[in-house]
Amino acid sequence: MKERLQELQTEAIEKVEKATTLTDLQDVRVAYLGKKGPITEVLRGMGKLSKEERPVIGELANKVREAIASALDAKKADMEKAELEKKLATETIDVTLPGRPIPVGGPHLLTSIVEEIEDLFIGMGFEIKEGPEVETDYYNFEALNLPKGHPARDMQDSFYITEELLLRTHTSPVQARTMKEYGGSKPVRMICPGKVYRRDTDDATHSHQFTQVEGLLIDKNVRMSDLKGVLNRFAKEMFGEEREIRLRPSFFPFTEPSVEMDISCKVCHGEGCSVCKRTGWIEILGAGMVHPNVLEMGGYDPNVYSGFAFGMGPERIAMLKYGVDDIRHFYTNDVRFLKQYHKV
Ligand code: PHE
Repeated sequence: MKERLQELQTEAIEKVEKATTLTDLQDVRVAYLGKKGPITEVLRGMGKLSKEERPVIGELANKVREAIASALDAKKADMEKAELEKKLATETIDVTLPGRPIPVGGPHLLTSIVEEIEDLFIGMGFEIKEGPEVETDYYNFEALNLPKGHPARDMQDSFYITEELLLRTHTSPVQARTMKEYGGSKPVRMICPGKVYRRDTDDATHSHQFTQVEGLLIDKNVRMSDLKGVLNRFAKEMFGEEREIRLRPSFFPFTEPSVEMDISCKVCHGEGCSVCKRTGWIEILGAGMVHPNVLEMGGYDPNVYSGFAFGMGPERIAMLKYGVDDIRHFYTNDVRFLKQYHKV
């Protein structure tokens, strides 16, 4: 019996060594260690043995089982390891290869400028207002001291939709709307950014659709020097502390007196160059003290309240700040242009 067991062990281990697949191994396991296997059979025949022989054979049979089982386990582990290595070898990833960059978007230059303007005025206590782009003749013109037939209506060629509706030609109607909303008794301190439309032929400095930021401040005892102070702060924050401002007399039907504001030329520092057309100054916005008629139509008593208003074009501000030479760049949306202004 001893020999038989030794033989079984040698035989089984030989088969384990020859096995090439996990199925082969499983077959060996079933054949030798299974309930119907030869070892179980040997153990079954132990009844015929003497008392002295029984434990000896029993112990040997267990040792043989263990030897076969551990050979099977070891071979199985080897096979699995080899399998894994094969897989790793075929699926290697070169982690040193450079990655493919994902294109990242960013705010449009115009959006950034408008946000910058908003931040500056929020810092001075202004709130942000909005108004409709399709506006009534009343708010776009009449409430701003431009009755029907007024020659100054020609300053802004308009896209009319009906006799009474048009695409707003400026953001000034939001002045009138805000006064109405505030009911003639509360002070106003607002800016309004938005799109405006004019029947202009597009070229390097004109666009039939562009952006404006309106400003309106109404309170008791508001003076021209307040307007100057606010605009001076704005110009310095936007273009740099070294910039000077200059107010020139001008005309707008809704302000009296009216001014246009220039900033000193950054290129020539006031000496005169082609950017400032040899004047040393560049015009950037229109402003003035709110006309008494406008206050009155808005429900504010001009004997009690006074105010100032201004209107600027963010495209122009961006063009001056970043040296953009054609307003059409803002709308043609060439990413090579836009990308230069992404703050990442
Ligand atoms: N609405 C004027 C324009 O579009 C600008 C402006 C606004 C002037 C407010 C004075 C006061 O030209």
